[in-house]
Amino acid sequence: MLSVVQATGHGGESPGAESPGPATVREGYDAIGIRYHEWSHRSPTRLGFLDEVLRRLAPGSTVVDLGCGPGDPATRMLAEHHTVLGVDLSMEQLRIARRLAPGALLVQADLVDFSLSAGSVDAVVSFYALGHVPPEDHRPLLRRAAAWLRPGGLFLTSAPLTPGAGVEEGWLGVPMFFGGIGRDATLTAVTDAGLTLESAREVEEEEGNGRTVGFLWVTATKPIHPAVIPAVPPAAGPHGARG
Ligand SMILES: C[S@@+](CC[C@H](N)C(=O)[O-])C[C@H]1O[C@@H](n2cnc3c(N)ncnc32)[C@H](O)[C@@H]1O
Repeated sequence: MLSVVQATGHGGESPGAESPGPATVREGYDAIGIRYHEWSHRSPTRLGFLDEVLRRLAPGSTVVDLGCGPGDPATRMLAEHHTVLGVDLSMEQLRIARRLAPGALLVQADLVDFSLSAGSVDAVVSFYALGHVPPEDHRPLLRRAAAWLRPGGLFLTSAPLTPGAGVEEGWLGVPMFFGGIGRDATLTAVTDAGLTLESAREVEEEEGNGRTVGFLWVTATKPIHPAVIPAVPPAAGPHGARG
């Protein structure tokens, strides 16, 4: 059973430094509405990684989809076989997801201060959402996501390739916030979160209007046997030396 543990306040590594990012993202996706789905839902890259997740999960697994957006195709296809919780900031995207992914549970929350019980899910997936999260929140989010996984659980995300943050005016017709920590810091954050990195693939995609955009697609797993670190040193020998 999934239980949402909703923390309060901003969960980043610099308390007090509120980012304008989440408000811009929420208002932007509310305003874009169905246009995001029309623009994006055919991506063959997402379908390829989705297929990988679907092949690896046992039927009836529990999956959380971070930044589920309109819920199609990823949330919908996952929910056809698994218990899926889609999380998103934008009520408008969630309204669309309610229609396009009727089998999924949906919750409105900011990924930055959203949490689940430790060890409660078999997979954490996030398609194209991490690039809207303020840089200072990437590492804490990856740490929390790793904690939600059961041993052996699967993590998949598409992360921005370059570090930085800012608002792009006129993205699908609205101002949109983008943030990232870049390739190397993302990979370090994944392993620092206690996950075993399986693959990191840079994939370029057509964005339309002759533009391309690249993401770092990461798969990682939660170790089944966590490293055993002795809590106390071995017993001392007869003369005080370690025996
Ligand atoms: C590019 S869309 C991706 C949607 C979907 N995952 C897909 O593959 O089409 C990004 C989604 O992430 C959501 N999002 C971005 N930042 C978020 C945050 N901090 N908390 C929750 N949702 C967020 C946006 O509202 C948007 O619906």
